[in-house]
Amino acid sequence: MNDIILEHAPAVAGAAASAAARKGADQPPVLVYEHVRKVYGDFVALNDVSLQVNKGEVMCLIGPSGSGKSTLLRCTNALEKLDGGRVLLDGVALPESESDVRRVRQRMGMVFQSFELFPHKSALDNVAMGPITVLGMSPEAARARAMALLEKVGLAAKAGNFPANLSGGQQQRVAIARALAMEPEVMLFDEPTSALDPETVGEVLNVMKKLAQEGMTMIVVTHEMSFARRVANWVVVFENGAILEQGPPTQIFDNPQVARTRDFLSHLGWEG
Ligand SMILES: Nc1ncnc2c1ncn2[C@@H]1O[C@H](COP(=O)(O)OP(=O)(O)O)[C@@H](O)[C@H]1O
Ligand SMILES: [Mg+2]
Repeated sequence: MNDIILEHAPAVAGAAASAAARKGADQPPVLVYEHVRKVYGDFVALNDVSLQVNKGEVMCLIGPSGSGKSTLLRCTNALEKLDGGRVLLDGVALPESESDVRRVRQRMGMVFQSFELFPHKSALDNVAMGPITVLGMSPEAARARAMALLEKVGLAAKAGNFPANLSGGQQQRVAIARALAMEPEVMLFDEPTSALDPETVGEVLNVMKKLAQEGMTMIVVTHEMSFARRVANWVVVFENGAILEQGPPTQIFDNPQVARTRDFLSHLGWEG
């Protein structure tokens, strides 16, 4: 019986099954990208990218360097103006005016490869600063929130340290706490472990995994394939500014539908 159905409509059956199984599919998506296009002069950085991110989902973006992954994140928090298409946050297209953009950006936490902590402030003050200056929180309340977040990322004992006296992995965990202090709806990570010494990568990935388990909606650009395989609910493969393939990690890593996905993964040494 099943054989007959599969024989007649294999692609449709597969697509319907994975869409139904997709995490958060019973709720409106947090982010929707519709035919997003971004050009730099003659260069097409994003070409007709359509995607969605559901509530509580971890979406990993993978693909070769220069394929448009960071550009997509910058289009997500309106650091770039689109040349076509739309990005919707909770069903509303991203605004264009600077003041509206700032409000939308506050709803997204961003974590970069290079941490970007304030060097002359302690870990605690780095985390407390946004809530004080942007949200207008009292310094006492902001510091209490910051301390709780440093505890969450395992750095309560380092609250008084300046960035120069923290390892890369510790600085990145402070950066994650700082983003969380603004109570974002979605967290965007752009290669958060690429600049780290190998021995500190795991502590950052563990913090991210814990966030995922707590239900945070996350978009993660990463080359850490075992993290994507284990933690992502949805994986999108980019190549030349376009989506090569997207699907659950079991599809992408164990049974890629596109030969170029397999080539990309085997270049990284992924053997399933
Ligand atoms: N501001 C810019 N001006 C011109 N080209 C850019 C700019 N930003 C990115 N690009 C180009 O767009 C392409 C995609 O970049 P990016 O999104 O950073 O790729 P990835 O993050 O996948 O490595 C690259 O070829 C890059 O050189
Ligand atoms: Mg990038």
